[in-house]
Amino acid sequence: MAETASVTNPTSEAISRRGFLKLAWGALAAFLGGTAASTLRFLFPNVVYEPSQKFNAGPVAEYPMGISLKWMREQRVWIVRKENGLFAMWGRCTHLGCTPNWFEGEKRFRCPCHGSNFNPEGDVIAGPAPKPLWHCKIEMAANGDLIVDKAILENRPGFRENAPYFVEYKA
Ligand code: FES
Repeated sequence: MAETASVTNPTSEAISRRGFLKLAWGALAAFLGGTAASTLRFLFPNVVYEPSQKFNAGPVAEYPMGISLKWMREQRVWIVRKENGLFAMWGRCTHLGCTPNWFEGEKRFRCPCHGSNFNPEGDVIAGPAPKPLWHCKIEMAANGDLIVDKAILENRPGFRENAPYFVEYKA
């Protein structure tokens, strides 16, 4: 009986081993490259660049006594002039954030969403709003322009009537 010998080709085995090693090194290199790339990505975080909350509201002398709606549409801010100075108030209801409207005849702000009412200082006089309207930081530049910063807010009586939330001015 003739014996059948199983003969393997040593050359083809060597090639397949070499191919396997290449594949393994390639996979390792791809893994390390991906890890390095994602680590580097952390050095450049996603940042949302928002426009500045500061704006120039123009010459102080241009504001008449009372509530000015001049910047309401563009900046959502009322400029309020009193006998002794001015302040800026953010037009955002402290209930759920709607924009109140000023009613000159009633001398009050009314929120159209759930009926909160605020007096000209921003204090709640009716409705569900839990806090007074926010006063913005305001200052007068050397040339007489009012600079309003909506990023710095105050609504506590006793604080909001003073700098930097109030600019003293008498014409
Ligand atoms: S958002 Fe103004 S009363 Fe609700």
